[in-house]
Amino acid sequence: MKDLVIVGAGGFARETAAAAAADWRVLGFVDDDPALHGTSRSGLPILGGVDSVVDMPDAAVVVCVGNPRNYTARQRIVARLGLPAERYATIVHPAAVVGSGCVVGPGSVLLAGTVLTADVTVGSHVAVMPQAVLTHDDRVGDYATVASGVRLGGGAVLEEGAYVGAGALVREGVTVGAWSLVGMGSVVLSDVPPGEVWVGGPARFLRSTKEETA
Ligand SMILES: CC(C)(COP(=O)(O)OP(=O)(O)OC[C@H]1O[C@@H](n2cnc3c(N)ncnc32)[C@H](O)[C@@H]1OP(=O)(O)O)[C@@H](O)C(=O)NCCC(=O)NCCS
Repeated sequence: MKDLVIVGAGGFARETAAAAAADWRVLGFVDDDPALHGTSRSGLPILGGVDSVVDMPDAAVVVCVGNPRNYTARQRIVARLGLPAERYATIVHPAAVVGSGCVVGPGSVLLAGTVLTADVTVGSHVAVMPQAVLTHDDRVGDYATVASGVRLGGGAVLEEGAYVGAGALVREGVTVGAWSLVGMGSVVLSDVPPGEVWVGGPARFLRSTKEETA
């Protein structure tokens, strides 16, 4: 088993610790909140600040920060750390299904019940929450987030940093633009341009993502 350090100590970080437990020796979390240092979460220690992973060259790393209000945080931390791609772990929960021809990049996490059917490409530092279903030929860009219960039709594209909220449906062949956000439960029938929030069924423009990506 290889050592793993998880960046962040919030909900997604703790979910990733659980997903990794079968295949990795999880050493603990790193977080920039000094109040957390020396404490523990989910039975694992908070080892220090985020930059301390640079001094742990033998441990693989996965960055597990971000939420619907601030989903650019993962990219900012990866840029700040400047680690080579080979330092990043790919975490696949044992109860995820990854079909033939599927590729999952470094730093990405597939939580329990995720299904990648066939020839799905998932980039780097992508978060895929429980029970998401990504079907044939989907392409998911770096730093994207696929929340729980999302269904992507065949050949759908999520560009870099796109956030697809819980339970949303994306029609086959449709593209969600870079850093755009699809609200929970939405039904996306046509392409979403970059940098926009779309909601509803069928999904429509709500506003720009200025609040989230500031
Ligand atoms: C899309 C989203 C970001 C909008 O948040 P917001 O900007 O704070 O918007 P508000 O809650 O003020 O709602 C603005 C309007 O959009 C509507 N709306 C918001 N989210 C919606 C959704 N998911 N589907 C349909 N309509 C929605 C509201 O009803 C409101 O309509 P009104 O002006 O007619 O009353 C948020 O609702 C959302 O869905 N976030 C994703 C959450 C998620 O997936 N979490 C799972 C991971 S933890």
